[in-house]
Amino acid sequence: MSRLTVVGAGYVGLVTVACMAELGHHIVAMDVDADKVELLRKGGVPIHEPGLTDLIAKHRERIEFTTDHAHAYRSGEFIFLCVDTPPTASGDADLSRIWQAIDNLPPDEVEHVIVTKSTVPVGTGALVKAELDQRGYRHITYASNPEFLREGTAIADFMHADRVVVGADDPAVAASVAALYQGIDSPVLTTDVASAEMIKYASNAFLATKISFINEIANVCEATGADVTVVAKGMGMDRRIGPHFLQAGIGYGGSCFPKDVSALKQLAGNSGYHFQLLNAVIEVNELQKRRVIGKLKRHLGEELRGKRISLLGLAFKPNTDDIRQASSIILASRLLAEGAHVVGFDPVATPNMRALLPAVTYAASAMEALEEADACVLVTEWSEFLELDWASVKKTMAQPIVIDGRNALDGPALAQLGFIYEGIGTRSVG
Ligand SMILES: NC(=O)c1ccc[n+]([C@@H]2O[C@H](COP(=O)([O-])OP(=O)(O)OC[C@H]3O[C@@H](n4cnc5c(N)ncnc54)[C@H](O)[C@@H]3O)[C@@H](O)[C@H]2O)c1
Repeated sequence: MSRLTVVGAGYVGLVTVACMAELGHHIVAMDVDADKVELLRKGGVPIHEPGLTDLIAKHRERIEFTTDHAHAYRSGEFIFLCVDTPPTASGDADLSRIWQAIDNLPPDEVEHVIVTKSTVPVGTGALVKAELDQRGYRHITYASNPEFLREGTAIADFMHADRVVVGADDPAVAASVAALYQGIDSPVLTTDVASAEMIKYASNAFLATKISFINEIANVCEATGADVTVVAKGMGMDRRIGPHFLQAGIGYGGSCFPKDVSALKQLAGNSGYHFQLLNAVIEVNELQKRRVIGKLKRHLGEELRGKRISLLGLAFKPNTDDIRQASSIILASRLLAEGAHVVGFDPVATPNMRALLPAVTYAASAMEALEEADACVLVTEWSEFLELDWASVKKTMAQPIVIDGRNALDGPALAQLGFIYEGIGTRSVG
């Protein structure tokens, strides 16, 4: 078993800590956020991710949390970089935290492999290696090991990954990183560093493209009378297409797709290539987040001022508290700009949203959010919303209007209860 250092205790870092400990490794996890480290030391976990708290607790004796980077770096044979790489104003990836981590490497002659899990533009590994060589750090080798987990199912995704990608120029380094994953039943693809970096961007950009494509089909379905849920089913039965990522809705969000699509577009542009398709993918997604406003106006009239609109779900997807780039942010902001009274509820993401958008009223439960509402928008398909007692909801709302931004509710059943129901790319009923 190996000694690993994990730099950055966020969504990817903590899942890596827990799952690598499950595989038997000893971990020192380091973060610059002292409050986060303090909480982790006390047994708390700063994010909502199913199963994570228990898995960290199970292996607590093999995991150390620290803010001391010199100690952390000296401890690990492998140093996993899991720091955030957020978008800059230009849409490029901000690599300042990666460089901060590299700058903090102690000048000891201890052998390490730096393993980058953060999503970084193609060419970053080569730059890091050149910097290490220039500093004379020949004892430090480098591998790219992009992460594909999804928030909400991150532990299962890590332990049963579709593939583990390891990019390294030295086959022995690639083999040593691949060996860390022994115990999970996933195929390992070893590549050069640049290709590993591109696999991550290309995968996310392709999935985002699939989502924007089906959303455009949904919009055409609305104009022509077809039903996108049936269309997607029929398309997905074709094995060349597959059924995944064909759920029409109010656009993708989260900490990865928007920033990675934009970073790939910038990367192409910086390299002299105009990636036209990605421009459309981004634009379609931005417009899709706003389409709900038009639907609300169709039912409530052009004047949304003073209307009470209830948003069910604020996280960018169910089972996470992450609101980065969530569709709820654009939707709530647009509604506030129209003068509507926005009441939001999310099972776990409310505190994050409250800090970002204090002008929204936050309810303590879904039923409270729905009281006297003129319309309700399902923004995030948490299961508790699907299981609501909709007959009681009908009684509590001022007007029985439901816009289903995820096509997750049973429209005909709601119509039978007396609701006016409208999904995305489906026929409205009621
Ligand atoms: N969240 C996901 O679903 C996901 C999935 C796959 C890949 N990724 C990629 O993984 C990377 C991390 O994403 P995340 O969502 O875990 O980010 P995050 O913001 O949740 O966590 C990043 C952590 O790094 C810490 N940090 C920043 N600079 C540091 C430094 N110099 N030293 C030590 N710690 C430092 C921050 O305090 C924070 O706790 C990103 O590049 C992201 O694109 C994320």
